[in-house]
Amino acid sequence: MAEALTTPRPPAAGAGAIRSDEVLVLDFGGQYSQLIARRVRECGVFSELLPHTIDVEEIKRRSPRGLILSGGPASVYADGAPKLRVELLELGIPVLGICYGMQAMVLELGGRVEGASVGEFGRSQLHVREHGRLLAELPAEQSCWMSHRDTVYEPPPGFTALASSSESPVAALEDVDRALYGIQFHPEVVHTPYGSAVLTRFLEDICGCEMNWTAASVVEEQVARIREQVGDGRVICGLSGGVDSSVAALLVHRAVGDQLTCVFVDHGLMRKNEGEQVVAAFRDHYKVPLVAVDAEQRFLERLAGVTEPEQKRKIIGAEFIRTFEEQAAALGNPKYLVQGTLYSDVIESGGGHGAATIKSHHNVGGLPEDLEFELVEPLRMLFKDEVRQVGIELGLPERLVWRQPFPGPGLAIRIVGGEVTKDRLEILRDADYVLQDEIRSAGMYRELWQSFCVLPGDLRTVGVQGDERTYGYVVVIRAVTSDDAMTADWARLPYDLLERVASRMINEIPAVNRVVLDITSKPPGTIEWE
Ligand code: XMP
Repeated sequence: MAEALTTPRPPAAGAGAIRSDEVLVLDFGGQYSQLIARRVRECGVFSELLPHTIDVEEIKRRSPRGLILSGGPASVYADGAPKLRVELLELGIPVLGICYGMQAMVLELGGRVEGASVGEFGRSQLHVREHGRLLAELPAEQSCWMSHRDTVYEPPPGFTALASSSESPVAALEDVDRALYGIQFHPEVVHTPYGSAVLTRFLEDICGCEMNWTAASVVEEQVARIREQVGDGRVICGLSGGVDSSVAALLVHRAVGDQLTCVFVDHGLMRKNEGEQVVAAFRDHYKVPLVAVDAEQRFLERLAGVTEPEQKRKIIGAEFIRTFEEQAAALGNPKYLVQGTLYSDVIESGGGHGAATIKSHHNVGGLPEDLEFELVEPLRMLFKDEVRQVGIELGLPERLVWRQPFPGPGLAIRIVGGEVTKDRLEILRDADYVLQDEIRSAGMYRELWQSFCVLPGDLRTVGVQGDERTYGYVVVIRAVTSDDAMTADWARLPYDLLERVASRMINEIPAVNRVVLDITSKPPGTIEWE
């Protein structure tokens, strides 16, 4: 992504932190709505996605520089189609309607929108007749991405039609006096080469935004916010070694220094050397007060004899909380708890505003809601790639910034169909180490969403090594590409890489005598095996 990032907003009531300009995206249900907010941020302006039903007073209170109305799947004429309230067009700030957003605007203001017999889906050619303000300095002919059936045939009174395409007589329009703008195409997708240029015209020239939202400004703004929230209170943070908790912890440390104590619970289910790396980075390098708890034994005791996946997760989750609570108590129960909640979690949980969403879903680091902490969530407004940018800005090592996702219950959910034991964990850790080592050496680590090994716990197969018959473990290689873990494809790892991995695993790990590759995509499979 581009350098620029966004600054999280101060909380509703009178935070005195630095504010950057913001443009709000009102969501009419389009599949690209989130992407619009991301692109706006990439242009250097803070943007947040809000439901189109948001209270107009709330918008006024935030005094954004402009509004963007997103696309949406419905026809403007469909029963129950989201309605655009005209008051949103009368706030005295510029409004840009995209696709459905433009059609809804045209409909409300008396233009002509109709369902066309032929839709326009995919790449299209935009012919600019008049550049106006919105398309000034952009090429007269450009390709763009369309996805619509309803079509604008006539602009409302006072508007100028700027452009057309084969199926859209009016593909862009504006009313400069009222600062209302509309485009039928999607500027947020990569298939619209001038999409960012159009957004920049809207943001910079029309809304008058300062394009200064960057990773550095996020750090500055968050540090100010954290100081204001926490004052001289004490703060605790559970570090997992992942990028989110690491970046959150470093931001808080920069803000309030040693008022922060990090707690790293090593449940013995981490990958090779992972615990040591966390301690080395935080305690030794960043000088962040860190309590590292060696809890391997208690976790393994609780897991003894357990094979059922959900039961494992529950045991690990509960034990994690117990351990964390003990540490918090030992620290005199700090008032504040740092959570690495991301903007995608906020959107997914429908939490939007003020709702203190604790990240419990899928996450052992998730703490129960009745814990009596006040949450500090410095990443609450950031997308994952922005968190990485902030991590880089804070000097976090590449290895941590680009770490693949790793499940909270760790290797325990990768020993399947059998008990989790120390020996098996050791075998899986060694196998995983070989795989990561070869994938990193091949320069493929970053292009994979996840790469790991699975150990079918109770399964042994026959092999022959030297002159001896062996009866050993099978290691499964699982490597996937994905954008968001909702769907995934199995990664086409090169044969020579696979060969090296298999032969190293069998040579270096005596208990392993067979290596297999998982070629299942998601769906129908899941990424993890249980
Ligand atoms: P699945 O296996 O459902 O995984 O395709 C999707 C993503 O979620 C991660 N995952 C977990 N993360 N605790 C976590 O913190 C869990 O219990 C858990 N189970 C799956 C998985 O690694 C993948 O990124």
